[in-house]
Amino acid sequence: MATIATTSITTALLIISTLLHFSTTAYAIGVNYGTLANNLPSPSQVASFLKTQTTIDSIKIFDTNPDILRAFANSNITVTVTVGNGDIPALVDVNAASQWVANNIKPYYPQTRIKLIAVGNEILFTGNKEWISRLVPCMKSLHQALVHAGIKDVQVSTPHTLGILHNSVQPSAARIRPGYDRVIFAPMLQFLRQTKSPLMVNPYPYFSYSPSMENYILFKPNRGVHDTNTNITYTNMFVAMMDAVYSAIKAMGYGDLDIVVAESGWPSLGDPNQPMCTVENAVSYNKNMIKVVTSGNGTPLMPKRRFQTYVFSLFNENLKPGSTAERNWGLFRPDFTPVYDVGIMRNGQV
Ligand SMILES: *[C@@H]1O[C@H](CO)[C@@H](O)[C@H](O)[C@H]1NC(C)=O
Ligand SMILES: *[C@@H]1O[C@H](CO)[C@@H](O)[C@H](O)[C@H]1NC(C)=O
Repeated sequence: MATIATTSITTALLIISTLLHFSTTAYAIGVNYGTLANNLPSPSQVASFLKTQTTIDSIKIFDTNPDILRAFANSNITVTVTVGNGDIPALVDVNAASQWVANNIKPYYPQTRIKLIAVGNEILFTGNKEWISRLVPCMKSLHQALVHAGIKDVQVSTPHTLGILHNSVQPSAARIRPGYDRVIFAPMLQFLRQTKSPLMVNPYPYFSYSPSMENYILFKPNRGVHDTNTNITYTNMFVAMMDAVYSAIKAMGYGDLDIVVAESGWPSLGDPNQPMCTVENAVSYNKNMIKVVTSGNGTPLMPKRRFQTYVFSLFNENLKPGSTAERNWGLFRPDFTPVYDVGIMRNGQV
């Protein structure tokens, strides 16, 4: 009797805490889980932490790390994996692509909810002509290999910098850069539509930082940037960037494609010559950016749309080369303490 009573009290408490939990979970968001560090917790600790302590429901990794893919099995957290840039040319061959799927997807899927394969990272920006010319053929071969393997719900795409755009000061006037538009984007966008896959972009207002633009970039009150074609005044750069991407693909006839924010974020600490890298600015940027992508309000040119978004990044990574800022993009320290709070902790902790 005592046991049964205890059990039902426990059950009641569980139901109450579940209800409380849902009422305090404002949104789900993704993160880039980079691993350029020698002090990170194990993938299984990370999976358990994300699942139990945060509202993060999706991760993106920069490889196909088997330990991570195994650790996220049965977590219900979706995973985007990445094909190495250098692997692109060889994977144009369908047999090689099938072997890649057999080695990197099949052993883990569907227990691990692999949702998307990113083919390389920012390939058009690498300047490597071979990678660039093989990119779309590789995407097609990987898709074909997935179909042959009987895997129907893993998408194939590739993340782009906003360097793909030109003429983007007024978002409505932005277009895909001539030279990329017909040769690469025409077949890529057609492939994405045919396979119901999203366009992936990495919008980084951070890299356009200047003191005079600070309020516009950090979602603080400002006069905004007026688009004379649409009569829309943009009061933050992130939304302007999203509408520029939309205008560019719409001009090619692909305004219906889903757009995924594959990376965006703000470093919380920098060198003395990086005074914009503060916790306060990281909170302002990430909190507001997350609000835009999850609110369901969309943007002026894409009303009522939500955007799957992967914040860059999950952890501060101590082995990243470059300035101090490079090692301080994380939402969390390696011991799981939050660097700052952008409302992603369950139970409103922090
Ligand atoms: C898994 O996540 C999806 C959202 O991606 C949700 O709808 C579903 O209820 C979850 N399933 C479980 C068993 O938690
Ligand atoms: C542009 O917007 C302003 C302010 O909302 C309005 O007064 C003006 O008539 C609009 N112009 C056009 C061409 O729609």
